[in-house]
Amino acid sequence: MDIDQLRREYLHGGLHRKNLRDNPIDQFEHWLQQAVDAKLPDPTAMNLATVSADGQPSQRIVLLKKLDQQGFVFFTNLGSTKAQQISENNHVSLHFAWLELDRQVIISGEAERISTAETLGYFLSRPKESQLAAWASRQSHPISSRVLLEQKFAEIKHKFSKGEVPLPSFWGGYRVTPKSMEFWQGGAYRLHDRFLYSQQTASQTESSNKQGASTEKTQWQLERLAP
Ligand SMILES: Cc1cc2nc3c(=O)[nH]c(=O)nc-3n(C[C@H](O)[C@H](O)[C@H](O)COP(=O)(O)O)c2cc1C
Repeated sequence: MDIDQLRREYLHGGLHRKNLRDNPIDQFEHWLQQAVDAKLPDPTAMNLATVSADGQPSQRIVLLKKLDQQGFVFFTNLGSTKAQQISENNHVSLHFAWLELDRQVIISGEAERISTAETLGYFLSRPKESQLAAWASRQSHPISSRVLLEQKFAEIKHKFSKGEVPLPSFWGGYRVTPKSMEFWQGGAYRLHDRFLYSQQTASQTESSNKQGASTEKTQWQLERLAP
């Protein structure tokens, strides 16, 4: 197969500064909505990159389950490789690839655990089988056979056959608060459009505050990058 001959033009049209929202989360929501409307498979799938304490990056897909002005929330096993790496180094990157729209979004930020209450809210909304599967798997640990996994699932199913499935203590959510977000739109002749939002934190002293305590206000700088 001549993989070097596999190519296509990116013809969905350009990205113009005047059409970009001031706030990158608002811009992201707009693009996510378009990905959903275009019926892309798994529009909320994002690649999560983490880096181990000794500097080795790794990545895997997780699903975006909540988005607000604070950031991007996903859920996982707290004993997994990704959780271990985040505990050592909470600088992470997220990558959305909406290839059918010739788009990608790249986010850099910091991951923080969300509260048990917020996790529980999502856990209870999951189908029962997914709740049971969370209990059954020691994610990222070696397992001798699939049979063992299925046995464990059956045991858990029996154990929690009546009533609600409780939230496992080893399962939780993380919120990635963005520091930068890049929006990439493929262009004809590989002249792509890239716009980078970078967070500028301005310390402000509220004049109304008599103690002169400073408050943080997030501002976003927007610049075009060469493709
Ligand atoms: C489409 C898709 C969605 C996934 N969603 C999640 C998810 O939301 N949470 C999760 O922990 N793993 C999810 N996974 C599995 C992860 O990619 C990964 O295998 C797992 O989390 C273990 O990663 P780790 O060993 O690097 O921690 C998903 C995989 C795919 C392909």
